[in-house]
Amino acid sequence: MPRSAARLADIAPFHVMELLTRAKALEAEGRDIIHMEVGEPDFPTPAPIVAAARESIADGRMYYTPALGLPALREAIAAFYQQRYGVTVPASRIVVTAGASGALTLALACLVEPGSQWLLTDPGYPCNRHFIRAFEGQPVGIPVGADSNFQPTVAHLEQYWNAQTAGALFASPANPTGTMLDEGELDTLARAVRQRGGQLIVDEIYHGLTYECDAPTALAAGDDIFVVQSFSKYFQMTGWRLGWMVAPEAFVRDIEKLAQNLFISPSTPAQHAALAAFAPETIAILEARRNEFRLRRDFLAGELAALGFRLSARPQGAFYIYADCSALTDDSDRFARELLEVAGVAITPGLDFGTHAPRQHVRIAYTTSIDRLGEAIGRIRRFLA
Ligand SMILES: Cc1ncc(COP(=O)(O)O)c(C=O)c1O
Repeated sequence: MPRSAARLADIAPFHVMELLTRAKALEAEGRDIIHMEVGEPDFPTPAPIVAAARESIADGRMYYTPALGLPALREAIAAFYQQRYGVTVPASRIVVTAGASGALTLALACLVEPGSQWLLTDPGYPCNRHFIRAFEGQPVGIPVGADSNFQPTVAHLEQYWNAQTAGALFASPANPTGTMLDEGELDTLARAVRQRGGQLIVDEIYHGLTYECDAPTALAAGDDIFVVQSFSKYFQMTGWRLGWMVAPEAFVRDIEKLAQNLFISPSTPAQHAALAAFAPETIAILEARRNEFRLRRDFLAGELAALGFRLSARPQGAFYIYADCSALTDDSDRFARELLEVAGVAITPGLDFGTHAPRQHVRIAYTTSIDRLGEAIGRIRRFLA
């Protein structure tokens, strides 16, 4: 009897999507639900990007592009690294992909040997462990907490690295915590992974959405690091499904072969649209929105603390607050479900992000207006009372 491969038993559902389904069902019954569960900016894609897409479709530019992406877009991304970070990255190392998800798929398809171990943070972005598992690797979670700002350290690498370890995949700023690695920390981690003969991958998808200082890129720590990026978050193009990766030169040919076979090419209209993403008028829109995210974060952090949530992770970036709710409940999953049913506020239980203290935490996204955040706080206050 045909059945799914055995590895599927290790692929967990994305709990937040199930919560979202319930939230939508409640909305269909006429309830007003405040969405703070989904990791997606509420702002529409900036108008210059949409205009570029319209123009390219009107001009009939809708055929496959090279598997590594439109040469002009790869050049534009290289120029962006030079302008924004002062880092020189040749366009030849840039691979345009179907979102950061496509980049992670290609990088891990290229690197993961069956049975090899890959270090990830716990809590962390849930899909990463499933990507690794899908390629028959073994994800190994490093439990991280407030003592290391929910980020990995060299001491963690020493503790968790063994003969089967092939590499590490970290994110800065991270999902669900919003915490960041600074330049020195990135450099030290890169050296430690290199010394062990391993491969470092850094997910920089939340770059641009940082509220105290700009996030440094891991590309400055060496040209042997894979960096994953996306047009989804800062550029607010989630549904366009476009991102990129910067790969070490020696891997580009293998990644090109994989990209040709797995995807043929990234979306053509999305790539033409993204050519307008780095234009000064687009950046001006994005920077104004970044400021709005900062105001929301500051508002929400203060209000949550007043309600009794503990903000053990410093939310330096992304658009999430990872809050310790143990003073309010002993089960964040039940808390999130009841909060949705009773108060109409959707948040994500810690369960989605790993096995390290998930019942004590919830992730709250500030991807809605300050007015709605204020309404949500009022509802949570009444719910707790
Ligand atoms: C840390 C992280 N990496 C990757 C992704 C995938 O994003 P996309 O494929 O839309 O670029 C997400 C989405 O939430 C994320 O939070």
